Amino acid sequence: MSGRLEGKVAIVTGGASGIGRATVELFEAEGAKVILADIQDDRGEAIAQTSPNIRYVHTDVTQERDIKAMIDAAVEAWGRLDILFNNAGTAEPDAEMEYIGADVFDRTMSLHVRAALLGIKHAVPVMREQGGGSIVSTASVAGIGTNYGPVCYSIAKAAIMHLTKLAAVRLAADKIRVNCVNPGMITTAVFGRAMGLSQDEAEEKYDVLRQVSSFAQPLPVGGEGVDIAEAVVYLGSDAARFVTGQALVVDGGLTAGTPPDPEGGTQKMLAEMLGADFEALKQKARGS
Ligand SMILES: NC(=O)c1ccc[n+]([C@@H]2O[C@H](COP(=O)([O-])OP(=O)(O)OC[C@H]3O[C@@H](n4cnc5c(N)ncnc54)[C@H](O)[C@@H]3O)[C@@H](O)[C@H]2O)c1
Repeated sequence: MSGRLEGKVAIVTGGASGIGRATVELFEAEGAKVILADIQDDRGEAIAQTSPNIRYVHTDVTQERDIKAMIDAAVEAWGRLDILFNNAGTAEPDAEMEYIGADVFDRTMSLHVRAALLGIKHAVPVMREQGGGSIVSTASVAGIGTNYGPVCYSIAKAAIMHLTKLAAVRLAADKIRVNCVNPGMITTAVFGRAMGLSQDEAEEKYDVLRQVSSFAQPLPVGGEGVDIAEAVVYLGSDAARFVTGQALVVDGGLTAGTPPDPEGGTQKMLAEMLGADFEALKQKARGS
């Protein structure tokens, strides 16, 4: 399918790597004109060289003036802004509750929550004036469950989900839709970078990550950036015209739960403790 974003102007923050890069490329392939906003200048510029419909704008999303300038750049280049994807982010190593650093908390909230809020703030006047738009932010399964990421990161991602609902309701009258995507484990540089590797080193480890990610969730396939990009294209497109305030989970079934133990697990243990015949019970449950 192509042309799903024909005529639209989009911004993707964190567009130089991983999920953001996959989204820039899919947006472009679907007919959008795209501002790639990131702090990795060499990579951003190199991706922009691949198409006249992609422009790189150096943007540190922890700086409000950079966010405003990135929105202005879209309007100056192409006269409008239809889709804002608040996606830039990174993870820092986890710590036990009694060692959580206030500085780590502040950095994490600034990079994820404050940046998404300020992105929305500066996109609204443009989108309202033109009669609507779509804003998508990257949350995470870490914002849903308690065991999917570091503490500060998980708090930030949960906050993005609530910000999404708040903004969706407040901006609905302006036909500005606001949603988030919640990726599961996706092969990107984020894991290596969190462990101190350079971007190049982190990308060299993709094969290792892919081996792990195939077993990280019920679906036995590894998540890739394009899986999230497809969800963002949908939310950004007119196909989602009636969808707002939602968290679209794209995680291969991770948050749905774990498959039952084929050996019987706790059910079998319980039956044995109660003196029941587990195999006979199983046979009975199968019906006739
Ligand atoms: N990879 C996963 O499994 C996964 C799962 C859930 C959520 N996420 C989220 O997806 C988003 C994208 O991460 P990714 O996995 O593609 O990682 P990535 O490291 O491949 O890409 C992140 C990009 O954000 C950019 N960035 C970092 N700080 C920035 C700043 N201050 N200003 C502008 N850009 C900045 C980086 O330069 C990089 O290009 C993040 O919000 C992350 O938390 C990732």
